[in-house]
Amino acid sequence: PRNAERGADGVVTLAGVDVRDLARDYGTPLFVMDEDDFRSRCAEHATAFGDPSLVHYASKAFLSVAVARWVAEEGLSIDVCSGGELAIALRADFPAERIALHGNNKSVAELTAAVEAGVGAVVVDSFFEIARLDQIARERGVVQPVMIRVTVGVEAHTHEFIATAHEDQKFGFSLSSGDASEAARRVLKAGGLRLTGLHSHIGSQIFDASGFEIAARRVIGLLADLHVEHGSAKLESLTTVDLGGGLGIAYTSEDDPPPPAELARQLHNIVRKECEHAGLPMPLIAVEPGRAIVGPGTVTVYEVGTIKDVELDGGHTRRYVSVDGGMSDNIRTALYDAVYDCRLVSRPVDPDTGAVLCRVVGKHCEAGDVVVRDCWLPEDLAPGDLLAVAATGAYCYSMASGYNRLPRPALAAVTDGQARLLLRRETEDDLFRLEVEGAGR
Ligand code: LLP
Repeated sequence: PRNAERGADGVVTLAGVDVRDLARDYGTPLFVMDEDDFRSRCAEHATAFGDPSLVHYASKAFLSVAVARWVAEEGLSIDVCSGGELAIALRADFPAERIALHGNNKSVAELTAAVEAGVGAVVVDSFFEIARLDQIARERGVVQPVMIRVTVGVEAHTHEFIATAHEDQKFGFSLSSGDASEAARRVLKAGGLRLTGLHSHIGSQIFDASGFEIAARRVIGLLADLHVEHGSAKLESLTTVDLGGGLGIAYTSEDDPPPPAELARQLHNIVRKECEHAGLPMPLIAVEPGRAIVGPGTVTVYEVGTIKDVELDGGHTRRYVSVDGGMSDNIRTALYDAVYDCRLVSRPVDPDTGAVLCRVVGKHCEAGDVVVRDCWLPEDLAPGDLLAVAATGAYCYSMASGYNRLPRPALAAVTDGQARLLLRRETEDDLFRLEVEGAGR
């Protein structure tokens, strides 16, 4: 987080709040979110892309009612991909015209809720859905704006990307097969739908704009084809090219992702060039960052429990440091081999104390329950010490589970020396919330 500091006493404060106070007041494991960090990243994206409403916060990365309010206040739009995310955005009074609904298998209930709320876009993902959505809109006498999700044949992750003509995946309409053009034909013909944008999403945790450039080129190619086929007059409402999310963040001090302004500049350049080439007017460029907005400003605070030295072959030892959470609050290490860093935050590190290579593990009944695969921690680390894992704002709470019936952690926001809970910790009572009365007899 931008407002994390280690004080002269060695204790870390987050936006001026002592991490020990946070742990005492709210317990551990605890997600701590730096509100100003979140808001400043919203603002940076808004400035980079020229208009805050062109930046759709991808709420799958993390969503609560309070955070939806912050996003609304910063003027951003929001991308939701389920009825649940839509309900949270609406509960926060998020302006409906700035909500876009995604998903490859939206239910009738989800589509209906979106149409009735008046969302600014439904990102259509199949022929079946085009027909279904058209009917839902016409039955209500409204015209629903839609974007078409295009599969561009680019798959990107961090430093690597693969570009192919075809793509073997569940999302979107393939460009190469002609499905994307056919989707546009059907949307243009549907009385209940209005085509407002073309959408593509190529992947996540991307550091290099070249994958986006290929995607942009292919989407503009489709746009040009549509202008030839249908004529520009019929495409007046088709103003926007949405290039999805994916901008990467630093998980450790070794990562150096490009700032949003750099990505925006590259995307604008490539789109401008392609449009000039094709004789098209410059479209609006929208994006859907999730991780890059919410990821960096949150830490997870854990309390150290058991510490075990295990002998390895060759006389080495590995120190296993167990914490009071694990794969239920951060599945990313186990699932994606994600790399995190972790620090002792509750007391000074004596410079004369050596550091030991540790593996920070959770308390789940599973050997793969690793939070941080390798990190250096002080030799004298002891039960009761607090550790913080950085950059856990995206896809940790939102992918949390109740595995082994562990309660979901609490989540607190800090700003200007003040802390407040956004999400309380689950309790033992919550374990029984879904049990049907009498079923256990
Ligand atoms: N837009 C669409 C259509 C998406 O599918 C996604 C992410 C985003 C935007 C936001 O991407 P971001 O800016 O956050 O990278 N659970 C994985 C990431 C899955 C992302 C799925 N879609 C992880 O923990 O790394």
